[in-house]
Amino acid sequence: MFILQNGKLCGQLESICTDEEDRLMVKIGIIIGSTRPGRVAEQVARWVYEHATKRTDAQFELVDIADYNLPLYDEPVPPSMSTDYVNEHTRRWSQKIASLDGFIFCTPEYNRATSGALKNAIDFLFHEWNNKAAGFVGWGSFNGARAVENLRLIMGELQVADVRGQVGLSLFTDFENFTQFKPASIHEETLNTMLDQVVAWSKALKTLRE
Ligand SMILES: Cc1cc2nc3c(=O)[nH]c(=O)nc-3n(C[C@H](O)[C@H](O)[C@H](O)COP(=O)(O)O)c2cc1C
Repeated sequence: MFILQNGKLCGQLESICTDEEDRLMVKIGIIIGSTRPGRVAEQVARWVYEHATKRTDAQFELVDIADYNLPLYDEPVPPSMSTDYVNEHTRRWSQKIASLDGFIFCTPEYNRATSGALKNAIDFLFHEWNNKAAGFVGWGSFNGARAVENLRLIMGELQVADVRGQVGLSLFTDFENFTQFKPASIHEETLNTMLDQVVAWSKALKTLRE
């Protein structure tokens, strides 16, 4: 029974629409990819979060790998073969990543690759990443381009769909003294394009996983 009240549909149809909106709502994790003291990663990730949370088509949360105190990879069985993890830190990390539909990896460039800490955190899991979407924000002398390329290779193995858009920040022009994050305004447009792509693919892949 559908009743029109003040121009709004009430009753069964409203509840069907709300259920559908909930079903299509995706959760995107903004992953802070550096753990070192004095990292700029946190400033960058907070900037991403502030812009992302202006949107209403997805939910966003910051995921700081430093909070998970992951040691160097220490599970006896590769994660592609078993999710029966022996360590509590792996189970905690697994629950977080499993709860998300998509990712924005905020990555520094260390020796032409992503950080060891982020690669190590990624390696702990497999199924939790599969059939989800990812976008990237990188920084460095060459806008973190090589770190993002490195992550794109890794995503292929994990069956993560990496979108075309990416934000590339220069240590020379987007940071004062290489430490204070002062992004050029042009990056907001690039960020929004990348977020559009990640949200769209996260929704599509959520349907596939279901
Ligand atoms: C071990 C190490 C290696 C680095 N290698 C590169 C590099 O290959 N390319 C680059 O652009 N920047 C490189 N840098 C500079 C980092 O991009 C810069 O320190 C940045 O602030 C790191 O991000 P974070 O502060 O969030 O850790 C390196 C920094 C470190 C600590």
